[in-house]
Amino acid sequence: MHVLADIAYLAAAALFVLGLKMLNRVRTARRGNALAAVGMALAIIATLATHAGLSWSWIIAGLLAGSVLGAWLARAVPMTSMPEMVALLNGLGGLASLLVGLSVFWSEYLHPPFAGGAAPEFPLAQSHAGGAQWALTVVLSVIVGAVTFTGSLMAVLKLQEKLVKGTPIVLPGRHAINVGVALATLALGAFAGFVLAGPAAGTALLALAVLAGVLGVLLVIPIGGADMPVVISLLNSYSGIAGSMTGFVLNEPLLIAAGALVGASGIILSQLMCKAMNRSLGAVLIGGFGAGGGDKSAYKNVKSASPEEAAMILDGAGSVIFVPGYGMAVSQAQHVVKDLANALESRGTNVRFAIHPVAGRMPGHMNVLLAEADVPYDKLYELDRINGDFKTTEVAVVIGANDVVNPAAIDDPQSPIAGMPILNVHEAQTVLMVKRSLSPGYAGIKNPLFERDNCLMCFGDGKQFLSEVLQELKS
Ligand code: TAP
Repeated sequence: MHVLADIAYLAAAALFVLGLKMLNRVRTARRGNALAAVGMALAIIATLATHAGLSWSWIIAGLLAGSVLGAWLARAVPMTSMPEMVALLNGLGGLASLLVGLSVFWSEYLHPPFAGGAAPEFPLAQSHAGGAQWALTVVLSVIVGAVTFTGSLMAVLKLQEKLVKGTPIVLPGRHAINVGVALATLALGAFAGFVLAGPAAGTALLALAVLAGVLGVLLVIPIGGADMPVVISLLNSYSGIAGSMTGFVLNEPLLIAAGALVGASGIILSQLMCKAMNRSLGAVLIGGFGAGGGDKSAYKNVKSASPEEAAMILDGAGSVIFVPGYGMAVSQAQHVVKDLANALESRGTNVRFAIHPVAGRMPGHMNVLLAEADVPYDKLYELDRINGDFKTTEVAVVIGANDVVNPAAIDDPQSPIAGMPILNVHEAQTVLMVKRSLSPGYAGIKNPLFERDNCLMCFGDGKQFLSEVLQELKS
């Protein structure tokens, strides 16, 4: 039976790797997700089959509760709240690791010969067959789990901007405070694991969880909303590391492997996002970006267009590039964008979509929305492939994108987003900028594109405005 389980674990690990690889492309992402789910099902079955004395009622109740909750969340949570949901799920991964670390300690601790309140005479590191390794993994599982849990909850609150503001919260002397708390956490961890004997080790572990939890909050509060997707991906990576730690604690190789995969992919994704914003991971983690709260300087010479005027401009255009951003997700304009693209194509216009790697609020955000509206993949162009074509394009229609088309990234070396690769919509003959106001985007900075001669602001909700344009075009 154990050999079969090992084979199942190996197959599950291979399916995880394959699934991750397929998540790389929109076209194969769904299948990749399904493959990884099959791998997880295999792993669960193999684990249940090889562990004797399990309480089936608890396991079935847990599976049912988790499945019902997951299915409900998948249906109920809107696309715009996906980052919060991912952050919350990361947090729960961290909490699981924290609880496993604590409960394994207590169950081993209460196990004979220590049962019945008799305290072990040796430190935690010596009170178990695995010795130092066991103590190290329990302590790390608690630390990483608690940091991930509270850090992710803080990320959720910052993204919601209800109880906690989304802009950076910069405490005086925060670097010294963070280093101090991190060192204290490590010291307490070493103390609990390797020095402390008797029941006090349990109390020290609980104190460690609280201190690491405080560290999680401190690490996330100075990070501004604009950098939150990077932080979420990093917390995702932490939750993988926490899972790996749990795997060591429970001596489960598959959990170690799965956690390592999540940990590595989270780090890679964070790096990719940083590259797309021309920022270093260190700079993102230090935080403070966007602390100014937005550039309120007044715009001069802004021109606007009504839906009727926008329709007239599009009517005669030979080439149009749509550039979606976060506002398209907010207004759920993807279907009307697709209808508009169809209407233009039927008039012989060359229509394409330009996708910036960090448009929206999570990787692949725009791809997912456009795929939902059945926009063919071959119409979607990544930044490098389409940026040279704006010069020869008649109309660029920007739907709720702002930072990712901000020419300050190129023109102003002092800009907080200087050097970030942008979509060069300003090079098109005409830019139709569909958004509700002159408000800044996520980075909270002014966008000089609004004042350019070739830019027409199309004020309104994305879906509403484009629906009216479509109506005008059809009539
Ligand atoms: P943003 O720069 O955030 O701009 C979005 C714009 O959408 C806002 O200016 C807003 O203007 C407009 N908007 C909001 N609701 C709208 C509605 N109902 N209808 C029409 N427009 C609406 O978005 P972006 O250009 O997609 O840039 C993404 C930002 O997130 C960048 O700063 C990027 O660095 C950051 N970021 C993203 C990621 C990932 S992975 N996507 C990762 C890290 C950082 P109004 O309020 O005037 O309507």
